[in-house]
Amino acid sequence: MTDNTQASYKLPAEAYFDQSWLDKEKLNIFAGSWLFAGLASALPAPGHYKTFSAGFDELIVVRDGNGDLNAFHNTCRHRGARLVSGQGQCNTFVCPYHKWGYGLDGDLRGVPQREQYGNLNLKELGLHKASVESWMGLLFVHVDEQPVVSFAQWSTGLADELAAFKVDQLQLLKQESFTFDANWKLYIENHIDWLHLWYVHPETLGKLEHSDGKIMQFGSSFCSYDPVKPEHEAASLASNPLPDIPHLKDVDKRYSDIGAHFLFPNLPIFTGRSFFALTDLVPLTPEKTQMNISLLGIPGGDADAFMESFNQVTKDEDAVIIKTIQQVVRSSRFAVGPIAHTYENAISCFHEHYLNLIDGPPNA
Ligand code: FES
Ligand SMILES: [Fe+2]
Repeated sequence: MTDNTQASYKLPAEAYFDQSWLDKEKLNIFAGSWLFAGLASALPAPGHYKTFSAGFDELIVVRDGNGDLNAFHNTCRHRGARLVSGQGQCNTFVCPYHKWGYGLDGDLRGVPQREQYGNLNLKELGLHKASVESWMGLLFVHVDEQPVVSFAQWSTGLADELAAFKVDQLQLLKQESFTFDANWKLYIENHIDWLHLWYVHPETLGKLEHSDGKIMQFGSSFCSYDPVKPEHEAASLASNPLPDIPHLKDVDKRYSDIGAHFLFPNLPIFTGRSFFALTDLVPLTPEKTQMNISLLGIPGGDADAFMESFNQVTKDEDAVIIKTIQQVVRSSRFAVGPIAHTYENAISCFHEHYLNLIDGPPNA
């Protein structure tokens, strides 16, 4: 484990309840980051599309006639109306307002009563382009057509570290969401806080040897593994409700430990010998957050039983404990004191990357 004597908590209390902070986050954190946007398998054929919010922006991700994925801003180039909502399949995006039509490549194809507009150059009026990347069958989007930081750079370290899971060979077993009454950052901070494992999960994670854990920080990303105590290995194997992922047998043992990882800004990832779970966080208000869980693994087990124990940790323990901070964050005496230099250092890193983005690009 890395030691960092400089670990410190860097955000003020207002960042956890003030609407103006959430507005800045939408503008500069969510619209300035690569965001998890679901599975490529949800868009299997040409014309399949889904919409996705990235801060104040809304994007359309669509598979075109060549099988490639494209991403556009979901706003018409005439008077800006929203083109589509949710998900579906189409050959053309037709604006509901005055029926301008766009191809799956975003190009403007048709304008009713075109003579009304004088010399209209259709080529200049395609949908504003955004970016989409597929990593192991997982989609990530960015609001810019040419982001300053590529997805490969954004996920450096984490993408290599988690490649062993070969997520594109896993199947979606379960998808569910829940909301909790706390700021989204409190969940992230708790997720990358090693210290709480002993005290918030004494029963649910009591069979893990936290002192033998492995914690890795890669820029703004974080990966960690928590091994099962040797005396509990046999029993925990026998009680696992999901089948083992076969290809993890051939790789380092840490991939079979309980993994907790994080891709900045809002994607906690949990892993283990039988699962890969993505849990993206969407701030609904400064004090209410939605968690979307996508559980991947090998079919044939009892995904409901797995989710029950997963939710005991994430929903009944983690989301509940962070509420105890949210409830007092407006108190006149609320302040964060010293934090643990090794076990809470990742929070310090999270704040550093957050603060680098929150005020937008320099000279913007
Ligand atoms: S706003 Fe889309 S066609 Fe007018
Ligand atoms: Fe936890």
